Formats: sequence, C-alpha cells, structure tokens
Amino acid sequence: MSERIKVFAPATASNLGPGFDVLGLALKRPGDLVEAEISTSPGVEIVEVTGADSLSTDPEENVVGIAAAAAIERIGIQGQGVRLWLHKQMPLGSGLGSSAASSVGGAVAVNALFGNVLSKHDIVTCSLQGEAAASGTAHADNVAPSVFGGIVLIRSTDPLDVIALPVPAALRVVIVHPHTEVLTAEARKLVAERRYTINQAVQNLGNVAALVTALHQADLALFARSISDALVEPIRAPLVPGYATVKQAALEAGALGCSISGSGPSVVAFADSDALADHVATAIESGFARHSLTSNRYVGPVNGVGAQVV
Ligand code: HSE
Repeated sequence: MSERIKVFAPATASNLGPGFDVLGLALKRPGDLVEAEISTSPGVEIVEVTGADSLSTDPEENVVGIAAAAAIERIGIQGQGVRLWLHKQMPLGSGLGSSAASSVGGAVAVNALFGNVLSKHDIVTCSLQGEAAASGTAHADNVAPSVFGGIVLIRSTDPLDVIALPVPAALRVVIVHPHTEVLTAEARKLVAERRYTINQAVQNLGNVAALVTALHQADLALFARSISDALVEPIRAPLVPGYATVKQAALEAGALGCSISGSGPSVVAFADSDALADHVATAIESGFARHSLTSNRYVGPVNGVGAQVV
C-alpha cells in the first residue's frame, strides 16, 4: 500500500461579470480535500465521501472519480489504480465551482501519486471530464483557476488555451453565499436558449477587454467599471433572491463591482483593501437578510497557487 496523500483544490468564482465561461479566479477558501493512495486494483475506488450526503461513491457517478479515471488513462497507468476519499468542504450548487474543485482534486491526486508527469494543462483537460458530467458542458472557467490559481482567461477549451492574468496586489475578493441552491445545469439552459442582440454582445466585448487591460495595468477603477454583464446576469438575477438589493448595497458600500459568482447564488464583489472588503461583505449579508436569507462570507486575496498536495 502506498503512502496516502492529501490534495486541497480551491473553490473558484467564474464569469467575473462580463466573462461568461472565459474568466475565473481561485479563492483561498473554501475548497475540497481529496485523500488518495495507490491501489493494486486497476481503476478508481471511492472509499468515502464526507460532507455531502447526496454524492455517490460510484466512481462513474462522482466527478472526483471521473476526473481521476481520466488522469489514470492520460498517464497510461496499467495494473494499478487509486483509492480516494473525498471530503466536501464547500457547498454544492453555490456558484463556487464545487464540481470543479472535486474534479481537480481527483486529477491532481492521481498525478501526484504517479510521479507528477501531467502538466497543468493536462490536469485541466482531465478535470473537464468531471465538469462536463456535472454541468453538461466542459466549461473551464472553474476548473482552470482551481488548477492554476490566480485569475485566468480561457480563450478556448478545444483546443485548450488558458492564459494566466496578472493579479493586482491590492485586489480583494468578497464572496457571499446565501443559503439557497442553484443548479448549474439548469442555469446554463436559461442562457443557452437565449438570443442576444449585437448591442448586448458589443457591451460584453468591451467590458471583457477592459477587464483584462485593467488587470495588466493594475487599474482597479477600470476593473470596477468592467464588472458589468449585459448577457447573463439579467437572465439569472431572478435565481438569486434579493439580488438587486444586494448588488446595490455592495456598490453603495464602495465595492469595485459586484456580480453573480458563476451560476449563483453566491455573489462576488471586489475591494482594494481588507477593511473595505469586510464592509462590502457585511452590506451584502445585510441585503440577503432583508430577503430572509442567511448567508456566509469568504473574503480575502486571490489564491495565487491553485490546487496542491498539502
Ligand atoms: N461559466 C459557468 C456558468 C460557471 O456561468 O454557467 C458555472 O459554474
């Protein structure tokens, strides 16, 4: 029996306003923990899942197993397999990339057990198989930041082209998770069925380009102006109870932009100091409370490291 290792794979906030499926960042917490050891039986066995009663221990049904199997195949491992323990340390259906974190944890664990031969791009590719099983599409804006850390741009998923963006030192991320659930697959259907005008597309093109420029120039005023989404936020806002109240509260508190994190219901906002970030988080939590929703917050700098053995 091999030594058992532990991998932490961070939660992520994706879209960042205008960048549907193309922008995402890694959070310091929460995230998932995956324990893993080499097994003499080929394939993947999920020994235990803690922290989420609804998740299967069937490796073909659980994204941690699907991504681990993809990594085993990509490395070309014969005659051996892995045993996994998945510890869900983040909420499901929260807009924080829960399925991505578990997928990344599985692929990184296999890679670490078998000599770290896969590149980060390979790990994203393997993890996308888990993400596709969970949400119906191999969108990489949660998986890629969970693997790479930092803020990433996904120019293309086929072929995979992931670009790491600079992170301004003062940038702080505010996540508030209201205690309600949104199913990503359902939220994606709303968007897929939508037709857009060229004016709406033009607004988002301008904002994504400006957002990337703002990161390169560490221009947080431009960054704040760029957190604006004409495509997806208007359609999904009704899925987040009290969203208009909460967004207004965040902006009045001085947030550098506010939007829905991934497919929601978590809200993401930005600040340029720890004090402002806490103030914004409190404003958002109070907004949700006015709509009878309890919530919790994750506030801090961007996670610059991504998934790793701990
Ligand atoms: N970009 C994806 C979406 C993220 O908004 O559907 C889902 O976590």
